[in-house]
Amino acid sequence: MSVDIAVLIGCLASIALVFVWTLITGSPPTPTSAPVRRTIMALLPARLPGAESQPVYELGAGWGGLSVALAARYPDRPVVGIEVSPLPWLVAKLRGAVAGHANLSVRYGDFRKADLSDAALVVCYLSADLLAELGPKLAGEMPPGALVVSSTFAIPDWQPMDRVTAKDIYKSPVYLYEREASV
Ligand SMILES: C[S@@+](CC[C@H](N)C(=O)[O-])C[C@H]1O[C@@H](n2cnc3c(N)ncnc32)[C@H](O)[C@@H]1O
Repeated sequence: MSVDIAVLIGCLASIALVFVWTLITGSPPTPTSAPVRRTIMALLPARLPGAESQPVYELGAGWGGLSVALAARYPDRPVVGIEVSPLPWLVAKLRGAVAGHANLSVRYGDFRKADLSDAALVVCYLSADLLAELGPKLAGEMPPGALVVSSTFAIPDWQPMDRVTAKDIYKSPVYLYEREASV
């Protein structure tokens, strides 16, 4: 087999793998664009609630761009990206290693099974359906006062503390929530 054909087969297999996992999760690994990432960073407070040991979680870390930015933004916090689609997870892990942030780890797995009881901040860019499923888990597990940033889609039945429109072509909304004891 020539190198060209091997590369072509590798590319097609990669596309198929991403496609199959998109069908399984219902959420393609669309990366957050640079304007939306800037909006998220501007919305986040300089100081996070809770102790320095309490992590920042990115649920559905995709190709890792946002997790790397969060690790740079909060160098004193553990930042944990969780991704279940194998190829994006592998790329996110490699990106994290290249970026060299000692506080960043990228875990393979389903964030619905993750323990978020120590979270200081959860960041996500997920479908409306996944957020509807995630809302009760966040409300039940996260400590009171912990923050959630959701890009593009709102968490059903949660009242945002703030909502900012990004300067991307879609004018994507970004929502900031505080987990209240009563949610
Ligand atoms: C729209 S992408 C966002 C990627 C990244 N957060 C970003 O903003 O650049 C959503 C990601 O969530 C992942 N995902 C969906 N359901 C998941 C689950 N249950 N556990 C872990 N990852 C999941 C998908 O594989 C996809 O990569």
